[in-house]
Amino acid sequence: MKKTVLLAALLTLGIALQGADTKLPLPAKKGGMTLNEALNARKTIRKYKADMLSMQQISQLFWSAFGVNRADGKRTAPTARNCQEITLYMLTAKGAWAYAAKENKMIRVSTKDLRSSAGRFAAPIYIVIVSNNKLSGSTARALHYAAMDVGYVSQNIYLAAAAMKLGTCAIGSIPKPAVLAKELKLTQSEKVFLTHSVGIPK
Ligand SMILES: Cc1cc2nc3c(=O)[nH]c(=O)nc-3n(C[C@H](O)[C@H](O)[C@H](O)COP(=O)(O)O)c2cc1C
Repeated sequence: MKKTVLLAALLTLGIALQGADTKLPLPAKKGGMTLNEALNARKTIRKYKADMLSMQQISQLFWSAFGVNRADGKRTAPTARNCQEITLYMLTAKGAWAYAAKENKMIRVSTKDLRSSAGRFAAPIYIVIVSNNKLSGSTARALHYAAMDVGYVSQNIYLAAAAMKLGTCAIGSIPKPAVLAKELKLTQSEKVFLTHSVGIPK
């Protein structure tokens, strides 16, 4: 009986991540590891098990990274002048999704496995952090701010991963940013700044 329930759950996860738009479960906004414990556990981990993360873990990870945490639409990471110029993408073996924070859902943008363009580690998930200089303004100062904004999101990913006992690595040496830009259908104003591999530590 337990096996049947487990199989059904795995199938649901597989099917959920194959659909065009995937509604995410609500992230937990209370409980979990304390901030001090998460800061103490934060580190870069580059080796992961092949296991896929659960939808709850995915939801928690993306909400922590750059989800909506207030009624006025503001986010878990600050952005200079509240430009909110960052978009997050999730890459898995089954394709790529854009994180729609307000709707708490994933929107499918590709059916290809783009993970090897985002990083060299074997990971079930990559997060791609994209910034849009049309929203932030393309002056040198705006680009400087955009890079700092990406940093807050990256640290949120690190702390969320630590709190969920997941492993992650920020990756600046992105193997194929141009492939990501093409396959994620980024506009001229959008640029891949950083990626994160994420998985259950080996
Ligand atoms: C902006 C940024 C870019 C990074 N790029 C890479 C990378 O391309 N490859 C990699 O293996 N680690 C990368 N790292 C991870 C660092 O090597 C790691 O944070 C550092 O060694 C300190 O380890 P710790 O995170 O465990 O404290 C990057 C970290 C940051 C913040």
